[in-house]
Amino acid sequence: MKLWEKRFKDRKEDPFLEKFNASITEDFFLFGAEIEASRAYAKALHKAGILSENELKIILDGLDKVVEKVKNGIDARQYEDVHTLVESLLIDEIGDVGKKLHTGRSRNEQVVTDEKIWLRHRLIGLIELLKELQGTVIKVAEENFDVIFPGYTHLQQAQPVLFSHYIMSLFWALERDKERLLMALKRLTTLPLGSGALAGTSVPLDRDFLAKELGFREPTENSMDTVADRSFLIDALFAISMIALDLSRYAEDFIIYSSREFGFLELEDHISTSSSLMPQKKNPDFFELIRGKTGRFVSYLNSLIVTVKGLPMTYNKDLQEDKFPIFRAVSEIEEILVAFNKCLKGIHPVPEKIREKMDSFMLATDLVDYLVGKGIPFREAHGIVGEIVFTAQKEGKELRELSIEELRKFSDVFDEAVYEVCDFEKSIKNKKTYGSTNPEFVRKQIEKAREILKS
Ligand code: ARG
Repeated sequence: MKLWEKRFKDRKEDPFLEKFNASITEDFFLFGAEIEASRAYAKALHKAGILSENELKIILDGLDKVVEKVKNGIDARQYEDVHTLVESLLIDEIGDVGKKLHTGRSRNEQVVTDEKIWLRHRLIGLIELLKELQGTVIKVAEENFDVIFPGYTHLQQAQPVLFSHYIMSLFWALERDKERLLMALKRLTTLPLGSGALAGTSVPLDRDFLAKELGFREPTENSMDTVADRSFLIDALFAISMIALDLSRYAEDFIIYSSREFGFLELEDHISTSSSLMPQKKNPDFFELIRGKTGRFVSYLNSLIVTVKGLPMTYNKDLQEDKFPIFRAVSEIEEILVAFNKCLKGIHPVPEKIREKMDSFMLATDLVDYLVGKGIPFREAHGIVGEIVFTAQKEGKELRELSIEELRKFSDVFDEAVYEVCDFEKSIKNKKTYGSTNPEFVRKQIEKAREILKS
């Protein structure tokens, strides 16, 4: 049965095409929001004089019964979409009064109303998950506060840093991810209902009342824009993709750092897997999956962007394709955040192994700074140290292994104090800038992060 079947005479359904047209298998997730919005709409119809007090009561009770019925299990596939499902079931339950609920209402506005209500709850949930993960990051940073770690650029050892500084970098990426979700949440504060199919409705609905009932700040300003707009979904999909992109980089780091070649991180057994063939294997599958699933999110974002491109105003059925990407993206990023949080708790830096692999030439910049301290212009100092590095590496020596006499061949300002500079701890403690890896600043950074999490 179709709610619009009277438009045709003896229309013979082609079951294949009916199924092709239907979105019920993809939009059933909006059921809760559809009920919530229908309740508010019934109240607004009552306020507008369309429903009597008694009819309103019958409809509200009827909607309760629909919820009950769906909970007990129905075959949803016979309905076109979640909106027709609720309306049809309501009419089944309460008869003719149920036929008044759709007065002045269009699925074009229902769908965006439901999506905004649903997404609001889920984005708030995502923000909570991000906060939990940020809490874990702080914990890992504090537990390994003093561990010295090689900082990389170009995947080449660059300068020594604190492991805590490295891992806290994730905190700030997640903080930006949170801000992006908050921005996406802001896009959900205007109420679509009352826009009708595209032109508004002759029913004198109090849209401010409707907005309040459904937790929106205010009604939208233009009914045509309202039923055409899906940018609020694109904003959310972008925010979600960024979370995945950020996590993929750290997942990649942990995969490399836990390899035999690096050996910097030990992964607990429960976040590792093995091989069906090679009994010795300890694989970082979960981090690989987190890295690998990132492609999906970019596709979800991309698919909706392409769907919207060049669409004529206002509603077009193409827009029904918005459900799959947003539902999948939200559900899957929730899983990824939970998985990443669990796995992050199971990584442990191994200081001795890290120390073994730390390249002493990471202190070359500190040597330049030492020469600058002796009054040599930076560019010149850079050149002197460049020559020292070249010579030492040619002779197979570490920086510290060069004697004062050898160093003086490059510049006569060298004295014994240079050996104090050639030290990873000193290099780290020597950093003077806010936001640097200096332990004092890292402590401040963690303090600030804690405050942010509390607020
Ligand atoms: N299932 C539809 C969607 O998700 C609801 C809106 C249908 N509107 C219409 N005029 N056919 O887009």
